[in-house]
Amino acid sequence: MPVDNSRLKGFFRLSVEERRKIVAELTGLSSEHVDALANYGELDELSANRMIENVIGTMSLPIGVATNFLIDGVQYIIPYCIEEASVVAAASNMAKRCLVGGGFSTNCDDSIMISQVQILDLIDLESAEQAILAAKHELIDMCNSLPSTMIRLGGGCKDIQTRIIDSESGKMLVLHLLVDTRDAMGANAVNTMAELVSDRVEEISSGRVHLKILSNLAAHRLARASAIFTPEELSDDGARDDGVKIIDGILEAYHFATADPYRATTHNKGIMNAISAIALACGQDWRAIEAGCHAWASQSNGVYTSMTQWSKDEEGNLVGNIEIPLAVGIVGGASKVHPAARANIEILGVKSAKELAGIMAAAGLAQNLGAMRALATKGIQDGHMKLHAKNMAVSAGAVDDEIGIVAERVKAQLGPITQQLVVEVLAALRSE
Ligand code: MEV
Repeated sequence: MPVDNSRLKGFFRLSVEERRKIVAELTGLSSEHVDALANYGELDELSANRMIENVIGTMSLPIGVATNFLIDGVQYIIPYCIEEASVVAAASNMAKRCLVGGGFSTNCDDSIMISQVQILDLIDLESAEQAILAAKHELIDMCNSLPSTMIRLGGGCKDIQTRIIDSESGKMLVLHLLVDTRDAMGANAVNTMAELVSDRVEEISSGRVHLKILSNLAAHRLARASAIFTPEELSDDGARDDGVKIIDGILEAYHFATADPYRATTHNKGIMNAISAIALACGQDWRAIEAGCHAWASQSNGVYTSMTQWSKDEEGNLVGNIEIPLAVGIVGGASKVHPAARANIEILGVKSAKELAGIMAAAGLAQNLGAMRALATKGIQDGHMKLHAKNMAVSAGAVDDEIGIVAERVKAQLGPITQQLVVEVLAALRSE
């Protein structure tokens, strides 16, 4: 549930159990969900075996919570499931820096998914297209004849659009069924609808229906978030001059991404660090989300570019915006059956798929700023390697207390943290 205090000062210093207790208290997490989080192999064998084929085990990743997020006036604690150090810390840090500006504002489209029907072997594509459009209401009614809670709740097929595409297999007519999937991601519902109308589409068009499948480019299901950052808040010591320089450096970093797909790919990967981690934590189809977001990033003129937009306003503040397709659901799928995903959705307390999409967009924006701010100032390796030091100690063979001691000693050294250095520090510790 939305919390009264998402700031959680000193949270990172607590033990895992203490953190879980605080999050449970703040969000009213049920004991069943606390247990799911506490149980590191939280997916039991029976459930795992029901989910996919040929199951031989399960694999765990850490869940950490990003703090300080104020979104549309509501404070959220946001669960991330990710293996990479410094992502959660960077998001929390950037979220804190826009609290003065009112946090993040979001605006998300209704949950309209596209289901595609490919029609081939047409002699007269234009006539077939007209015939389909003339039968639009009949086809929509057919889709909405499915017994479905989503349709009872006001969702269902709302419109049908047509496109004529030229391809190496010749020209084809493509139908887009536009389906409001309400609080579901909706893949199964829209795929079923496309299959349901296919015979009738063949009759009407006199063509051959081939593929019937959703599009992961959910271009009618966009999530938007924006935030304003003052120069003072972007500077570590609150100095305006320093903040102005940081903003200029961030804009130079951003312009690199808008001009160069090589940089845009990495820039957007940083955004997806948040979006995919929240998606995974909440039992979403993160591959669908990744595919949609990256495709959307090259939609405007066919050149792959940044998923975010950054500029300076008249007062010299940094203004960030993001707009991405986010097909997420809070009913059905893993979000309802995976015990940890259910716990994470309860921590967020989201009441709709749109609310979840807005949170993910806001976190993506914060994550992008965190990466650009680090890259435009001291670089990411210092902070990243410090947070990664414990993993490096384990890779070097450290066990038990050695792990913490080696990590602390390595961090206290001047100069870059390398695996060789970690090996040497461990050897020195063992020879004491
Ligand atoms: C690392 O996971 C993400 C970054 O590379 C993103 C970026 O370069 O903007 C730091």
